[in-house]
Amino acid sequence: MSEQQPPADRRTATELLLALDDQPGRSLRERLGAALKDAVRTGRLPPGTRLPSTRVLAADLAVSRGVVVDAYAELIAEGFLISRAGSGTVVSSAGRWSAAPPGEASGDPSTQRTGAVQSDVLDLRPGPPDLAAFPRAAWAAAMRDVLRTLPDHELGYVAPWGSDAMRETLATYLARVRGAMVKSPDVVVVSGVTQGLTILARVLGAAGHRTLAVESPGHASQRDILSRQGLQIRDVPVDAEGIDADALARTRSRAVVVTPANQYPCGVLLSSARRRALIRWAEDVDGVVLEDDHDSEFRYERLPVGCLQGLSPARVALLGSVSKSLAPGLRLGWVVPPGFLQPAVRALKRDDDFGSGVLDQHAFSRLVVTGAYDRHLRQLRHRYRERRNALVGALGRDLPSWPIQGQAAGLHVLVRLPRDVDEAALVDTALDTGVAVQGTAAMYGSLPPVAGLVIGYARAPIGRLDEGVRRLAAAAAAVARGRGGSSRGAPARRPRGSTALDYC
Ligand SMILES: Cc1ncc(COP(=O)(O)O)c(C=O)c1O
Repeated sequence: MSEQQPPADRRTATELLLALDDQPGRSLRERLGAALKDAVRTGRLPPGTRLPSTRVLAADLAVSRGVVVDAYAELIAEGFLISRAGSGTVVSSAGRWSAAPPGEASGDPSTQRTGAVQSDVLDLRPGPPDLAAFPRAAWAAAMRDVLRTLPDHELGYVAPWGSDAMRETLATYLARVRGAMVKSPDVVVVSGVTQGLTILARVLGAAGHRTLAVESPGHASQRDILSRQGLQIRDVPVDAEGIDADALARTRSRAVVVTPANQYPCGVLLSSARRRALIRWAEDVDGVVLEDDHDSEFRYERLPVGCLQGLSPARVALLGSVSKSLAPGLRLGWVVPPGFLQPAVRALKRDDDFGSGVLDQHAFSRLVVTGAYDRHLRQLRHRYRERRNALVGALGRDLPSWPIQGQAAGLHVLVRLPRDVDEAALVDTALDTGVAVQGTAAMYGSLPPVAGLVIGYARAPIGRLDEGVRRLAAAAAAVARGRGGSSRGAPARRPRGSTALDYC
């Protein structure tokens, strides 16, 4: 495709905000030309956008048509616009400052290592599922069905805590698949685990909690978000059985966020002894356990273990979402709070946004009820198991001294680094070598970090995983050479960043 050609997905800007302010000494044509250029340069009019006809724009701006004809002609001559028979006047890609959003285009190293990576970089950071596997046809069928049959009143302000259909579906599903103790009135539909946790943190703050315990290592962005809800974060270590219940008791917190099904990022299944200890602790301190059940659908070698909430619905709030099973962009999740927190959670959800989108709730509900969701998950499990095996095999072949931690579950593996490998240097060098992975340093909060990498396999076909590990091994070799060679003691090339793929 030539530089001048717009992409295929054309947009039509029949509504266009253009300010033709009074500018002494400049003609109307010049002012219109400048306003259009500004809109193209800043990306308000992206490449491919079809502009209004000269007649329509002239009428909208209350100027003569000749002014618009001249302004368009000038911008066509300068390459900002393209005129094509049959397609009118279209924004070209030549006038844009940069395809990258502000910040990424700035060359600022602090922004280079976060957010989007270059397209030639293999992105093996953890987080999203394989978005190409989103069940578009099944979702479209479910949505068509919803639109055909949904009574009009369901499109109004339904209960802010979720449509009846969604809550009934979730109650049945969570009991069936997660062993949850739940009835439909207990479910609060939210926009994701993140909203569920922030609501719960604020509810706890209002109820007198001052601190909130979290797992260390744990999800770095989640810890940051929670720390902004008014509670002090207390980091609790995780070992081979999951969160250390004795260390938790020493924090004197009365609330904790845990990932029992698949500890993030260590991949530990919370042992049954620890499950009992956690519940005992919650009863002793009159506290609450916030169970982030984020990727419990994905386990590849053993039957799933039921959720903690099923053991103690009075002390555990269960949180989940479709962010890993379908797509994070749906922003659809749920909370099943213990009864004593129900009214406050509902009230905050109501005050936050008056409820999540009902069409998606109904579509998801249809997907579950028709069995399409179960089928989708079965396919995904098969695909992810193969990808995980491929990644583990490639790591064993190319980086045999790096131990892999955790159960065969979820969407990533955690590898520990040999003592002499500098995690930040490796993450940085890996990106230069063409593979993005995530270091674990930022996941420990206030506790001393242990060097490791989190490598996501959900989004990469098997061949790409193989290539990614080869690049990682090349990066490790380059870091080792640098350590023993001339770069020892040299100043850092640039500030190092993690390659966190922030989900918020
Ligand atoms: C540990 C953990 N919890 C929860 C989530 C999902 O959050 P949400 O449901 O808000 O998308 C993620 C997503 O990456 C995660 O890694």
